[in-house]
Amino acid sequence: MNNKYSAEPFRIKMVEPIKETTRAEREMLLKNAGYNPFSLKSEDVYIDLLTDSGTGAMSQEQWSAMILGDEAYAGSKSFYKLDAVVKNITGYKYMMPVHQGRGAEQVFLPQLVTKPGMVYISNIHFDTTRAHVELAGARAIDSVIKECFIMDHYHPFKGNFDLEKLESIILEKGADHVAGIIMTLTNNSAGGQPVSMENIKAVRKIALKYNIKTIIDGARYAENAYFIKQREKGYENKAIIDIAREMCSYADAFLMSAKKDGLVNMGGLIVINDDEALFNKCKERAIPYEGFPTYGGMNGRDIEAMAVGLMEALDERYLKYRIDQVRYLGDRLREAGIPIQYPIGGHAVFVDCKQVAPHIPPHQFPALAVCNALYLEAGIRAVEIGSLLMGRDPDTHENVPTEMEYMRLTIPRRVYTYRHMDVIADAMIHVYEHRNELKGYEFVYEPPMLRHFTATFKIKD
Ligand SMILES: Cc1ncc(COP(=O)(O)O)c(C=O)c1O
Repeated sequence: MNNKYSAEPFRIKMVEPIKETTRAEREMLLKNAGYNPFSLKSEDVYIDLLTDSGTGAMSQEQWSAMILGDEAYAGSKSFYKLDAVVKNITGYKYMMPVHQGRGAEQVFLPQLVTKPGMVYISNIHFDTTRAHVELAGARAIDSVIKECFIMDHYHPFKGNFDLEKLESIILEKGADHVAGIIMTLTNNSAGGQPVSMENIKAVRKIALKYNIKTIIDGARYAENAYFIKQREKGYENKAIIDIAREMCSYADAFLMSAKKDGLVNMGGLIVINDDEALFNKCKERAIPYEGFPTYGGMNGRDIEAMAVGLMEALDERYLKYRIDQVRYLGDRLREAGIPIQYPIGGHAVFVDCKQVAPHIPPHQFPALAVCNALYLEAGIRAVEIGSLLMGRDPDTHENVPTEMEYMRLTIPRRVYTYRHMDVIADAMIHVYEHRNELKGYEFVYEPPMLRHFTATFKIKD
């Protein structure tokens, strides 16, 4: 769709007022939150860019479908509607809903961990994925291309696997110690960067050679498919759903947080290609954790909304609007000289805080410092994706060294307008111009796992 005069492909029918606060109020609110933006009340946030997860606006079709939601325990009509949609998109045989992405992880990931000393390999594990790998008794190893860490270097598919490294990890660990290969599409932690079909295919080839299962972490699979259509030769004229189906054809399982490309506020999926025994094991584990496999922690209304949302997220006009809006924000920052992950990813703009605040060492969390400065400046809440999020090595308890010190400006789907993007850009440019005044943080409280969610801090003198 290349219409010369195109804006948001929707009209706004319902609005939620947002509050403005003074700088003095924000200083107090942030202090009371232990300098951790996760602990702010959302009503004290003017523009909320913490996450794109479950924060999108639903369409009138989704809201009206919700009224059809029936009791969802065993074999409801809502379940069979979702079942048909998911099988149509993935081409897989078995599926069950779960309450969100991490529900899928906690049911599925332990199934392939059959002995001590096993690893999962991913382009980059998302943080909850990493946590569930570790809870399952395995270890998480990342194998993303090195271009991913060169912020200003254009690569159309910066989320790609480093195939040589992937194979060498398999050889080093022994194929029978690799529980699975998780393809994170798009690669959230790398800046919402896509993975090419060529790379997905090559990963599958390596996995088949060593008899290892491949799993898609499909939270943003539709955005990944859109990038393939835009950037990969041979896909220009394919329908997004066909690209998605082809991506799925190279995996054994598809785990999804539907709070992103399912366009719902809550929901997830475990979808299994053709391994019935594996599906049965997932069903057994789902019952005590998520609920009976035809509702998986969800109610009928949310299942209905998900069945509609999954198809809406594959609409090319919607995807164009979505990706263009994120790029607009990124372009404004880049024009002002702010170092960002380039090209701009699917769901967020990632600001390189290693370059913004080189005077703050990793263990004082430079990206947290930038996030907090942006909140103080304009009431905008962003999130740290760096040393704080990476946490500690479960064996050595040392801080995990990481190349990434990002602030993620995550754009919710169908929620904010281009004017909001301008306000974000203006405020961020101001923070950047005063970057020398930024200070680091130290822990007051550090939780043992997933520490970034609930840690508290004080400003380092
Ligand atoms: C790539 C990826 N995988 C898994 C998850 C976990 O999903 P959820 O938040 O629904 O538990 C997320 C959430 O942000 C994600 O981005």
